[in-house]
Amino acid sequence: MTAKRKIIIDTDPAIGIPGTDADDPIAIMLALQDPRLELMAITTVFGNCPPLLGARCATRILQVAGRTDIPVAVGMSTPMGGTLPPLLQQAYAGARGREGSIPLPAAEESHCGQHASELIVDLVRQHPGEITLVCIGSQSNLALALVKAPDIAPLIKEIVFMGGALGLDATWGRGNITPVAECNIWFDPQAADIVFRAGIPMTMVSLDVTNAATGLVLTEAHLEGLDDTQPLTALFKLVCACYFDAPMFDWSEGCVLYDPLAVAVAADAHIATLTPMAIGVETAGKLSTGQTVPLRDTDANMQVCTQIDGAAIVQDIVRIITRKA
Ligand code: RIB
Ligand code: CA
Repeated sequence: MTAKRKIIIDTDPAIGIPGTDADDPIAIMLALQDPRLELMAITTVFGNCPPLLGARCATRILQVAGRTDIPVAVGMSTPMGGTLPPLLQQAYAGARGREGSIPLPAAEESHCGQHASELIVDLVRQHPGEITLVCIGSQSNLALALVKAPDIAPLIKEIVFMGGALGLDATWGRGNITPVAECNIWFDPQAADIVFRAGIPMTMVSLDVTNAATGLVLTEAHLEGLDDTQPLTALFKLVCACYFDAPMFDWSEGCVLYDPLAVAVAADAHIATLTPMAIGVETAGKLSTGQTVPLRDTDANMQVCTQIDGAAIVQDIVRIITRKA
């Protein structure tokens, strides 16, 4: 039997919190249920909600899945380069800084006490060459880990990240937080710059493939007939209901599974067409901060997912999350 792939998910999960993308919790559920993956830890970062609240959300998922043996560590609450963007300060002062409709465990029961960057360093050193980091929020925790412990770079098997936009798809492959920047990268471009230059094998899952044109859209129809006597399936349905309601989406037809695609690619890269590319990130622009840019005449630093069958992948994601163990 092939060994399971060891992964750490670095994430900004929010469950039941109005106005947040709920794709991170779905990604965590997928990682827990995919028999090809061994989830070693969950580390949280600012983004959809503050990282301590994210840890409480992650722990609720682990409790429902009966997997509280998996450690959760709280990480960066601000970008490496400074303060939280005003947009997030405002969001956290409102609904996105508070528990939502799904009850969460207390803060003290929801994390291991170690900083996310330190847990990443420890696990990578304990399992040299074996750990894939699935980064589905800003890359602040991983960048801090690399700054504190540069020796871990050659010990990381791979990074699979959801982030960036390259304009490969004329309609969708652009920014979602600015006209040219995707939010996970825009939240902390300095961090992404450190990670992109670290010489670690990387796979990019960007807005170029995480969009409605590829069919990577979850709809109410996918949830029909699911057996919600299974606790994780019941939570999945609740989380999806919140995601369908998120006001930043006006697509009545469903929600894009951005982050679950990164987990699916970590489980099996063959589900995507991968193209080697050199990608840089704009850290100093006034109008283009956080833009991910394909570079010419430069050696490739990552594999970019350039094509997927999104509809087939969504079906697989739902099947795996709701399978009986
Ligand atoms: O741009 C999509 C990303 O931002 C995803 O990681 C999603 O969770 C959102 O916060
Ligand atoms: Ca995310």
